[in-house]
Parts: sequence; C-alpha cells; structure tokens
Amino acid sequence: MTLFFCSVLLFCLLLVLLSFLCHLIYRQVLAPGAIYYPTPHSTVKKMLDLAKISPKDTVLDLGSGDGRLLLATARCGATAIGYEIDPRLVRLSRQAIKKAKLQHLASVKQQSFWRADFSSATVITLYLFPQFMNRLQKILEKKLDHPLTLVSHNYPFPHKKYIKKTKNLYLYRFGRLVRIRPATAGLETSLLFLRQARQDSPRHCGVGDRHVT
Ligand SMILES: C[S@@+](CC[C@H](N)C(=O)[O-])C[C@H]1O[C@@H](n2cnc3c(N)ncnc32)[C@H](O)[C@@H]1O
Repeated sequence: MTLFFCSVLLFCLLLVLLSFLCHLIYRQVLAPGAIYYPTPHSTVKKMLDLAKISPKDTVLDLGSGDGRLLLATARCGATAIGYEIDPRLVRLSRQAIKKAKLQHLASVKQQSFWRADFSSATVITLYLFPQFMNRLQKILEKKLDHPLTLVSHNYPFPHKKYIKKTKNLYLYRFGRLVRIRPATAGLETSLLFLRQARQDSPRHCGVGDRHVT
C-alpha cells in the first residue's frame, strides 16, 4: 500500500515537473517576450497620452498582462486587443474587462504576439525585453502596410530612431514608404512617407485623472 502511494506521489511530482518544464520551454524558446511586470497605472496613462489615443484607434498591447492597458484604452472609447500567453493573466484580464462592462471594446487573445494580426492596428503598446525589440522591429517593417504609432515602455528599438522620448517611454511611427510619380512632367519619382493624420490633429482621449484599474 505504501509503495502504491509512493508511486502515485512520485508520478504526480513528475507530472508537475514536466508541465513546469514544458511551460518554461514554451515561454523561453517558442514564445519569448518578457516576464510579467506590470506597467504602473500612472505610466499607462502617459503611454496613452503619448500615443494620443482617440476613439478611432485600434490599440494592440503585445503581452497584455493583467489587461490594464486594454482597460485604459477602452475607457478612451478606442478598441483594445491584447495578446497574452499566460493563461492566468488572460483569465484575470478577461474578468476585469467583463467587470468594467467593456467587452464591446476590449478583448484578449491567448496567443503569442509573434503571430499577431496587425492589419487593424493603428497603435501598438508594449513593455518587452530589450533583446526582442530588434526582432519585433523587423516583423513590423515586413508586415505593416499602413501607418502605425507605437509606444514602448522602458526599452527603445536599438536600430530605429524614436519620434519622441518622455522619461522611459519611446514613441515611434511605423509605416510603408510608397513611390509616387509627381504630376509635373520632368520631375524625378520621389518618395513620400505616408504620415498619420493624427500627427497633426488633436487625438487626446482625455483619460485625464480617470481611475484606471
Ligand atoms: C512586462 S509584462 C507587460 C504587461 C502589460 N503590457 C503592462 O504593461 O502592464 C510582459 C507581458 O508579456 C507577456 N508575454 C511574454 N511573451 C509573450 C508572447 N510571446 N506573446 C504574448 N505575451 C507574451 C508576459 O506574460 C507578460 O504578461
């Protein structure tokens, strides 16, 4: 009997160890990004201010943690989509979204942001390990065929110039260079950077001193 219980116990221990190892391999090798370290609420507000979020925006938070950026974004009236691989955090954020009755604006996908769909995004927010920034830049430059604003917390892209830096927040614009042929004959084909209208018009959502949870 004792031998039976010892075997069951050992088996359970092995299972726990195995699942822990699988989780570790998945997090570190297959879908790396960053460990969970939440952005302070005061910084969340600053990130949204810096990006000048408006209700017209669709904001992707890559590695959305407990969903605090999603909630703050949705409270601006903008659409918020989070990508998060930690099931516990996905659960927590979905509960918070439901509690705030913001399901029509905010949602979380339990999947790696390395496979994210950027097609509807106008803004990206992130707080990732610095060693993944370069990889992300290459993906964004390859995939994006429309202009997009990005705010990174704490870590800049090593090979991209930011538009603005406010303390530990970095503002970037991504988008495609397109060739246009000027109407005037004789002029050389020139390059025009499609800049977002938001750069020139006020887009502040006015999260102001709203309580962000
Ligand atoms: C530093 S936390 C930031 C959380 C949140 N964005 C914030 O600012 O409060 C990074 C988050 O990214 C998640 N993460 C790491 N790698 C990921 C990946 N490949 N795909 C989706 N989420 C990932 C982690 O689980 C963690 O919740």
